[in-house]
Amino acid sequence: MQSTPSDTILVIGAGGQLGLELTHELRQRYGASHVVAADVRAPKDAATQESGPFELLDVLDKNRLEEVMRQYKPKQVYHLAALLSATAEKNPKFGWQLNMDGLFNVLDASVDLGVQQVYWPSSIAVFGPDTPRENTPQLTIMNPNTIYGISKLAGEQWCEWYFKKHGLDVRSLRYPGLIGYKSLPGGGTTDYAVDIYHKAVAGQSYECFLSEDTYLPMMYMPDALKATLDLMHAPAEQIKIRSSYNLGAMSFSPREITASIQRHQPDFRVTYQPDSRQQIADSWPASIDDSRARQDWGWQPDFDLDKMTQDMLVNLKQQVALSV
Ligand code: SER
Repeated sequence: MQSTPSDTILVIGAGGQLGLELTHELRQRYGASHVVAADVRAPKDAATQESGPFELLDVLDKNRLEEVMRQYKPKQVYHLAALLSATAEKNPKFGWQLNMDGLFNVLDASVDLGVQQVYWPSSIAVFGPDTPRENTPQLTIMNPNTIYGISKLAGEQWCEWYFKKHGLDVRSLRYPGLIGYKSLPGGGTTDYAVDIYHKAVAGQSYECFLSEDTYLPMMYMPDALKATLDLMHAPAEQIKIRSSYNLGAMSFSPREITASIQRHQPDFRVTYQPDSRQQIADSWPASIDDSRARQDWGWQPDFDLDKMTQDMLVNLKQQVALSV
């Protein structure tokens, strides 16, 4: 289904790193009143609340979820609420409960209430230490060893099962680390690549929690939004993978992102103090083979590291200038 302006879209987890930006993008495209933002907390960013409908929603509360869905009758649901990798390791049972039961609630309510399309994000965390690290293929050894990764891999299989058994049009991407200037991540292993820009713009040095040669797949937020909406708009017959698509854009290490920033700010300094997130990063791919996404629905990223750095620095400096 391609959303038309008369359709309603529900974004669950609209206050998160991806949710904030996706909600803004969807409201730009379809009109604010057609995009319902829902989150367990009222957004700090008043714009999300003021620019269109907002509902307080804990996705673990199935009755409340159904109430919101009965009220707005969304044709599309973006279910983004989850605990990320580092946070879920600290709170494993809750991480599992939120990531799995939240997904079940959304999938079941979507089947029961006739939602036409569901989007659910997966992650490079579905791969583990036995996975080939370079150019990781779509189909390969998985064996994730974080709660987040286990929940995402199980979730992918459940999405495929709901598609096959219930005909629910669920679509999913395995995001790399996402980097943007409009919203902050929370509790992820790839978050250093966002924090580092904020420190640089504040004129401070940065202490990195990963070692300088840790390569991870990454993506600039405009590419992530484009990929998500391209996937959702693609004709159903082009979506050949119903678990989740590998998605890539760039791969870099802390040393390389530092060098990219230093081309604009030669005085910027980074020190390295790896913590428990290093182990998580070491179990993930360094780069991703996303050829299936390119073949099936025409995926093509726009941003590499230096283009992203340029854009991040300009926009973050502008934000700082406007806030004083
Ligand atoms: N960015 C996520 C994390 O670091 C991975 O999907 O947890």
